[in-house]
Amino acid sequence: MKQNTSLVPVMLGKNFGLAAKVANTFFKIGQAHLFPKVNSGADHFKRLALVYFKLTGACNLRCVMCGQYGDKGVMNSCAAEENKKTLPLETWKKFIDDIAPLKLTTYIWGGEPFLYPDLLPLCKYMVQKGLVVSVNTNGTLMERFAEQIVRDKWAAVFVSLDAFRDVNDELRGKGVYDKAIAGIKAIDREKKKQKAKYPALGIVTVVTNKNYLYLDELAQASREYNLDIHIYNLGTYTNSSIVAAQKKFMKEKLDTDIDCLEAYNTGYNLGIDGKKLHSILGNVQNKNYGHTILTVPTLNPEKTHTYYAELETPVRSRCPVPWCQANVNYNGDVHFCADYPDYILGNIKEQSIKDIVNGERANLFRKTLHESKDGMAPGCLRCYQNMLFGKKVKGY
Ligand SMILES: C[S@@+](CC[C@H](N)C(=O)[O-])C[C@H]1O[C@@H](n2cnc3c(N)ncnc32)[C@H](O)[C@@H]1O
Ligand code: SF4
Repeated sequence: MKQNTSLVPVMLGKNFGLAAKVANTFFKIGQAHLFPKVNSGADHFKRLALVYFKLTGACNLRCVMCGQYGDKGVMNSCAAEENKKTLPLETWKKFIDDIAPLKLTTYIWGGEPFLYPDLLPLCKYMVQKGLVVSVNTNGTLMERFAEQIVRDKWAAVFVSLDAFRDVNDELRGKGVYDKAIAGIKAIDREKKKQKAKYPALGIVTVVTNKNYLYLDELAQASREYNLDIHIYNLGTYTNSSIVAAQKKFMKEKLDTDIDCLEAYNTGYNLGIDGKKLHSILGNVQNKNYGHTILTVPTLNPEKTHTYYAELETPVRSRCPVPWCQANVNYNGDVHFCADYPDYILGNIKEQSIKDIVNGERANLFRKTLHESKDGMAPGCLRCYQNMLFGKKVKGY
């Protein structure tokens, strides 16, 4: 099975300059693994490889497994208040001016990024400043912007789809599949019209007990969409005992109360037959649908069941995120952990990103994680970021 560095050859087919920047991102992530500096004098700013922009907290969908708007989503009760805190374009532009010299890779997500009113001008500015712009979207609002997206040279668009039409729509809402596909087709059409090689087009699928038996149908359908990549995300899950352990860890070590991890205690991992899932994913890989297929995390076939049935067993360790990444929230708060924005490092309205990632709170977080067993907190056990970038635990 392919590793996440297979994104580099995907980008190489598009543009050498883009591929070089993406390769540099993976190189810096590798460095973060090898040399996780914890001394407070180190310059962590220049080591940033990847910056996540959670551009908006607003969303037009209510996908059942989502940590923000799903069954246990943290935004369910506070979205209206939170959305008033969304940063204006000018604040983001200043932030971009700060990070632009690093020529790093960015990943825009949300909520739903197409609900941010200035998404298009923002991305245009980012591209002009030399950043690699990738956007993760539910795709439902994308179709009418396709011409401009291609013209503005976004590097990649990742559309979330969890199965073929009916099963997808049970999880993500009625009519979502067709709208998302209309968005994908519009980008493909525009690329042909403008003779453009990018944005690279990808689908991201979150595996749950509701869709895992039907992954093949989506893979078959995806043949028609001229994709570059399909990522199968084995999902972020937790359980009550891991949540309790994480609460204790964060309170004792970092004096922080948490509420984001509980949102992933959904039970959508329960009952997944690892053998069956592995064989379904294996079939998808073997059929050669004409695009790269990536599973995150790639697992030893015998261990797929462990991922879902034994959440306490680490499959990745030593998460490098605090040494090479930052996630900026819709209100300007900076965090290391994209899905668990409980521990705030600072806010870009008040401080430069350089001061934030080199600041006392960032240093304390790195030191705490580094000194913890396997370089992880309990809540890192099935975190998507750790699954993407963590060190493979022997045997898994
Ligand atoms: C929170 S969404 C935000 C972007 C956009 N609204 C979308 O759906 O693509 C980011 C990604 O997280 C995925 N996701 C949702 N719930 C998840 C879970 N429990 N585990 C892992 N990924 C999840 C979504 O499918 C999507 O690909
Ligand atoms: S579209 Fe994205 S942010 Fe919105 S509910 Fe679905 S997964 Fe969550």
